[in-house]
Amino acid sequence: AVVVGRRVRRRRTWKRAVVVLEELDQGCGAEVGRLRQVVDAMAVEMHAGLASEGGSKLKMLLTFVDSFLNGSEKGTYYALDLGSTNFRVLRVQLGGNSSALLEHEVERKPIPQHLMTSTSEDLFDFIASSLNEFVEKEGDPELSSVKRRELGFTFSFPVKQTSVSSGILIKWTKGFSIENLVGKDVSECLEQAMSKRGLDMRVAALVNDTVGTLALGHYHDEDTVAAVIIGTGTNACYLERADAIIKSQGLLTTSGGMVINMEWGNFWSTHLPRTSYDVDLDADSPNPNDQSFEKMISGMYLGDIVRRVILRMSQESDVFGPVSSRLSVPFILRTPLMVAMHEDDSPDLREVARILNDVLEIPDVPLKVRKLVVNVCDVVTRRAARLAAAGIVGILKKIGRDGSGGVTSARIKTGSQSKIRRTVVAIEGGLYTSYSMFREYLNEAVAEILGEEVSPHVILKVTEDGSGIGAALVAASNSSPSVDSVQ
Ligand code: GLC
Repeated sequence: AVVVGRRVRRRRTWKRAVVVLEELDQGCGAEVGRLRQVVDAMAVEMHAGLASEGGSKLKMLLTFVDSFLNGSEKGTYYALDLGSTNFRVLRVQLGGNSSALLEHEVERKPIPQHLMTSTSEDLFDFIASSLNEFVEKEGDPELSSVKRRELGFTFSFPVKQTSVSSGILIKWTKGFSIENLVGKDVSECLEQAMSKRGLDMRVAALVNDTVGTLALGHYHDEDTVAAVIIGTGTNACYLERADAIIKSQGLLTTSGGMVINMEWGNFWSTHLPRTSYDVDLDADSPNPNDQSFEKMISGMYLGDIVRRVILRMSQESDVFGPVSSRLSVPFILRTPLMVAMHEDDSPDLREVARILNDVLEIPDVPLKVRKLVVNVCDVVTRRAARLAAAGIVGILKKIGRDGSGGVTSARIKTGSQSKIRRTVVAIEGGLYTSYSMFREYLNEAVAEILGEEVSPHVILKVTEDGSGIGAALVAASNSSPSVDSVQ
């Protein structure tokens, strides 16, 4: 009788674990009808954010980037890319014709953890000294004789730009928190640190990573109208007509357009499929009520959502044995580990077992429970990718490229006929570039929302290193002519 009782109990707790998965799946529901609601909400919020300062959770920040390289620029330009746990220094050589991007060199460095929450002086001194090392290594005597170098600074946080080359940090995202930099001009701080180190460099452009990506995307393909990053954080920018940027009317000198940094990570709509795991993750984060869209989509958070689900399964059933204390450690299951479990194609899910054992200290998990874990990863990833897809189509809708506006917008007239315009969106960030399941889910959802007629004309293009190289391109098109850049 004892044995029978145990068996019944085991069956019940297995059932309970399955119910946790089913509830998650329901809560994360992102079928196409709901995605269309998200698309509409995104377009509405974009309008609101452009109409007035603070009109929406979408900041819709001006970038003062109103033109892209015309291809005639020549010389050597530098870029510094700061926005996640690594930062990169780049040197870009422009050759002065349309295939002008001759070569570039990149150096990556991890930012020591303590600097992400220390003081602005410490952070910028570290960056300036790394930049100095990079420059000092230049063997070319022509390069080392250059007095002042022109720099594109990619700073991937919300910045209120005061010009194309300066701007004030509004708030931190992605786990950074250096209080004394909020409200300050980040270019000025970098220039001070550089001059302390005796490095003669001028910040010729201050850009968001999305803006760099758009600049490089546009450089390679003129049909590029928007750029999206899905990495540690997520965000998008796009080219907007000047007359649509109502909040800045009178301020803009351009009659054409301007790139708008949406800061879509902070997008919020009641149509978003939010679960109790998202609510808890948000409450435990250093920035509650902020960046809700980002917390459902980007690499900083996906692993932690999965951890929370496994914790609940473990608390409510015995499929993982006794509850491991590791399951309560925030961010212990980093997204790359989640990806490795999701992509484990070994028949016995060996990698899943290894990660559960080594990282979460849950030994001897039976195969059918490992499968449950893979399912959790799948549900969380699929929702993230599909929401990002809805965001992209939201932008296309706002600029009339989603096909919903009929002949006048997505189509161009050629004689008596009209055809659908080609639209390119540049994409960067590890989730899209290196996580094939994520990429497939995203592409599939974009096609599903747009429908058969329009979707073949919308191209999502990976733009590698765009955030850095693009910043050098923006620097080149804004560099002062008096400056002696290497020709
Ligand atoms: C965060 C930042 C944003 C950046 C994005 C991707 O959302 O706030 O500026 O573009 O991450 O790196």
